[in-house]
Amino acid sequence: MSVVDERPGADRTAREAVGQAGRRRTFAVISHPDAGKSTLTEALALHARVIGQAGAVHGKAGRRGTVSDWMDIEKQRGISITSAALQFEYRDAVINLLDTPGHADFSEDTYRVLTAVDAAVMLVDAAKGLEAQTMKLFAVCRHRGIPVLTVINKWDRPGKDALELMDEINERTGLTPTPLTWPVGIAGDFRGVLDRSDGSYRRFTRTAGGATIAPEETLPADAALAREGDAWRQAVEEVELLGASGQDHEQSLFLDGVTTPVLFASAVSNFGVGALLDTLVDLAPAPTGMPTADGGVRALTDPFSAFVFKVQAGMDTAHRDRLAFIRIASGVFERGMVVTHARTGRPFATKYAQHVFGRDRESIDLAYPGDVVGLVNANALGVGDTLYAEQPVQFPPLTTFAPEHFAVCHSRDAAKHKQFRKGIAQLDSEGVVQVLTSDRRGDGAPVLAVVGPMQFEVATHRMEHEFGAPVDLDRLPYSLALRTDEASAPGILAAARNAEILRRGDGELLAVFPDKWGLRVLQQNKPELTLEPLVAAQ
Ligand code: G4P
Repeated sequence: MSVVDERPGADRTAREAVGQAGRRRTFAVISHPDAGKSTLTEALALHARVIGQAGAVHGKAGRRGTVSDWMDIEKQRGISITSAALQFEYRDAVINLLDTPGHADFSEDTYRVLTAVDAAVMLVDAAKGLEAQTMKLFAVCRHRGIPVLTVINKWDRPGKDALELMDEINERTGLTPTPLTWPVGIAGDFRGVLDRSDGSYRRFTRTAGGATIAPEETLPADAALAREGDAWRQAVEEVELLGASGQDHEQSLFLDGVTTPVLFASAVSNFGVGALLDTLVDLAPAPTGMPTADGGVRALTDPFSAFVFKVQAGMDTAHRDRLAFIRIASGVFERGMVVTHARTGRPFATKYAQHVFGRDRESIDLAYPGDVVGLVNANALGVGDTLYAEQPVQFPPLTTFAPEHFAVCHSRDAAKHKQFRKGIAQLDSEGVVQVLTSDRRGDGAPVLAVVGPMQFEVATHRMEHEFGAPVDLDRLPYSLALRTDEASAPGILAAARNAEILRRGDGELLAVFPDKWGLRVLQQNKPELTLEPLVAAQ
């Protein structure tokens, strides 16, 4: 880092990268379906938009306007808003909100989005508490060391007790919840929140349809007591309990993933949305240097670098469009710059760079660390690939989760062999499925492996409609995959008759088993065999 960069303008570019990165907050909302993620996303955008138009009156029509604007973009681009990154300015920060698709089923795609964020907002339905999908996504955040903010949503509806919810978070995630606000009034009787930073009362004033952005009024504690009586007293008592048990915010513990700050909200009424934005700006980390595959760090001030965290094809069927989403790690991105694709060493022209969703609707000219850029027709790029300018770098491969469902994939029409191969290769590079091969299967038919079975449906549909190669999937009876090596493979096959050895595109050998019992027996009887767990999805 001490080497002086002699290139003309290098110093200015480095300063610009650091300055702009410092303004960025790049995060995703994780939640179980129906917790209110779309509602919250919309409310965040509305909030930011209204801030930018001070004095504007926003009624229900304003809210509708936001929604229909989005729909227009969606139509124009043929992109689902759930696949997009929303960028907006708030205070002096630039917020990048990466949306994660909210299927009930596991989607590795969602998990990859989490490789591109610096923080996550865990949205919890006050009545349901932590749900299956929340827990899975949360596990990924922990695995990646992403700090998590928690928002308890739908407090306007009957739900669990606030202290009980705190216990649940603590017991099930291991994180210590450190509420920044505390509800006044039980779930279903939402009067407002006690702001623990100064003991003031943020009164919640309900407005028709939740259309206005600031249904909040701040009152000092004595006025709050006079107004809310017992509800305020109870909130004060509970807040004292939190303090007594050490549930106070401490920035370093939050960043280290030991604690999670908590806010109470009603996204549908826009209550708590401003507090969330303020919290993101004040507490969420800005981008920092990114670890590289060789154990080093790519500093923000280094020349441009980025990695592909998502590839999406078939969004524009007429053009066979293929969009690669990159997260910028270092330097300044200028549209049109020619960068290097680390995997192939080939140059890659960035003429068609877009903000896929956000204020800059058209092409994007400049972007900084933390930003997401969509590269159009990026046929050479695969998930996990690195792009760089000038100074070579390679980021570590993205985590591949242990698949839990397996199927042999046969082309229904032998004449479509070429299309079949192309389609399978593309689904593999996009990370829709893991494509495995087996020596045991003489016909060379690939084995597709997924974490959630819905990915099989996506693969089958796309093989037929996008690549013109209809396929049949024959499900295999395996549910467990572990990493092994060439030396152990024969021993595994000899000792566990129901097991199979499959090879992944990256050369990794996987031993697959129908259930954990057979595996346990094998591990007990043959402890010398290499059987390492892959990262589990939960
Ligand atoms: P998702 O993206 O996480 O799947 O959830 P989404 O925002 O679609 O919200 C799911 C449902 O929860 C919606 O109701 C939404 O209006 C409601 N909701 C979201 N936030 C709140 C909140 O703070 N309070 C209350 N009471 N409800 C909330 P829906 O009946 O499915 O649709 P809609 O017809 O009401 O839009």
